[in-house]
Amino acid sequence: MQARTVSTTPFNDQKPGTSGLRKRVEVFRQAHYLENFVQSIFDSIAAPQGATLALGGDGRYFNREAIQIILKMAAANGFRRVLVGKGGILSTPAASCVIRKYQTCGGIILSASHNPGGPDGDFGIKYNTANGGPAPEKITEAIYAASKAISQYRIADTSDIELDTLGDSGLGDMIVSVIDPVGDYAELMESLFDFAAIRKLLSGGFFIKFDAMHAVTGPYAREILVNCLGAAPDSVMNAEPLPDFGGGHPDPNLTYAHELVEVLYGGNAPDFGAASDGDGDRNMILGKHFFVTPSDSLAILAANAHLVPGYKQGLAGIARSMPTSAAADRVAAALGIPCYETPTGWKFFGNLMDAGKVTLCGEESFGTGSDHIREKDGLWAVLFWLNILAVRKQSVEDIVREHWARFGRNVYSRHDYEGIPIDAANGVMKLLRDSFSKFSAQKLGNYTADFCDDFSYTDPVDGSVSTGQGVRIIFTDGSRIVFRLSGTGTEGATLRIYLESFEPDVAQHHLDAQEALAELINIALEISELRERTGRERPTVIT
Ligand code: G1P
Ligand code: ZN
Repeated sequence: MQARTVSTTPFNDQKPGTSGLRKRVEVFRQAHYLENFVQSIFDSIAAPQGATLALGGDGRYFNREAIQIILKMAAANGFRRVLVGKGGILSTPAASCVIRKYQTCGGIILSASHNPGGPDGDFGIKYNTANGGPAPEKITEAIYAASKAISQYRIADTSDIELDTLGDSGLGDMIVSVIDPVGDYAELMESLFDFAAIRKLLSGGFFIKFDAMHAVTGPYAREILVNCLGAAPDSVMNAEPLPDFGGGHPDPNLTYAHELVEVLYGGNAPDFGAASDGDGDRNMILGKHFFVTPSDSLAILAANAHLVPGYKQGLAGIARSMPTSAAADRVAAALGIPCYETPTGWKFFGNLMDAGKVTLCGEESFGTGSDHIREKDGLWAVLFWLNILAVRKQSVEDIVREHWARFGRNVYSRHDYEGIPIDAANGVMKLLRDSFSKFSAQKLGNYTADFCDDFSYTDPVDGSVSTGQGVRIIFTDGSRIVFRLSGTGTEGATLRIYLESFEPDVAQHHLDAQEALAELINIALEISELRERTGRERPTVIT
């Protein structure tokens, strides 16, 4: 094998965001763009000669080409072996599972998660460390620094590798092992959940519908839900992974998973519905005519974890991202376990899980997971719910309402303003930051501001500090408004407003969240001058 050293010059925009580097496909297809970033990863992680790497992506447009380039670069950079998913495909949770199970030095995951794909869509790449989780900021910053100073990369001069047949082949001195992407993951799921109980539920007239959104989870859902657990074959919809996700937006929420929502809210609806995103780490849970907010879902999984074999020994603790509602905190308090509040992004949970401080983690953005891997995990959440439903033999709605009756309801919603001009978005954030002193103790409608800050976090394990993680206005009754700019978008800026209030009174629990939060929503729009500054009358997406 001939390894070539190619001269290159830095791009100045390779700073990883909330979850790796995400750009338009056309950006990634520029000469040297992907290569520069991959070499920056290899230079920063300094893997020992002879190390093994895991590699796979969500199958979106440009996945195959990128996998070939990375394999050739791995060979030229001294890796001994690369475990790559068949066809170059691995869901993000499956990649985390593979890294941990085979103790690789880490892995490269190609995904832009829930962002649209196709030639005009997005592509993404991120590095996960040996624990199976997204690289912490210390490493992503080192990768960014390397990308700004890069002058050359190394790549093997060989023909493309066959990726559609399982087994080993050689690429110079390196072995490329094409692995079954589903097997190891399915085995891990079976070790956590009571498959026999779920099988019984599904054969007893309990109907489910899972929307794979033409993304990576189709084959996983078919194998686990249909082949292992006996769900009817048509329980999995949009099961064929497509490079452009069928032209859709593979984001499991009420807006983008409308096809599933229509089924669950229609006549003769199934008892349970769920969807996952482009790379399989997100989940949306629905009951018959009922939506479970991701924040509630985390709290309910925690409150019922003792019913599930993999968690019946108890939870060490729970972690949630700051904008996620405090529903999980109430469960943690009842269980007498700690609840950690971290910045947005799964990378902040890794240290807590590695140190044994938390078992369950979640984000309001349809992300839930546990220490079985170091990524959030869409199908895991679906199976966790099915296991609870199999034991409790109640409807999804009854389980949620009983939960609210016991713990109170954290009424919650997120309003996203997507693709607004960057200057307008920055202007809103600056206005809010400049207004902190004005807000404190001020009465806003029926609410009185208690304190405002820009959230910062000190990691309790390694002491690292992350600042500027979102503007919070906390009211004296515990209600909150949070403003944050997205770190995953590729088009203009996305401003997220997170709204939360607490309702202990069961008589009010039937209220629609938008209705219950109407006053907070108005306050948020007023104090941020959002309409005036962006010209937007309403959010792009409400979850
Ligand atoms: C979004 C979500 C965040 C999640 C991330 C990756 O990031 O808000 O919770 O971890 O996607 O799935 P954001 O665009 O808000 O930076
Ligand atoms: Zn995702």
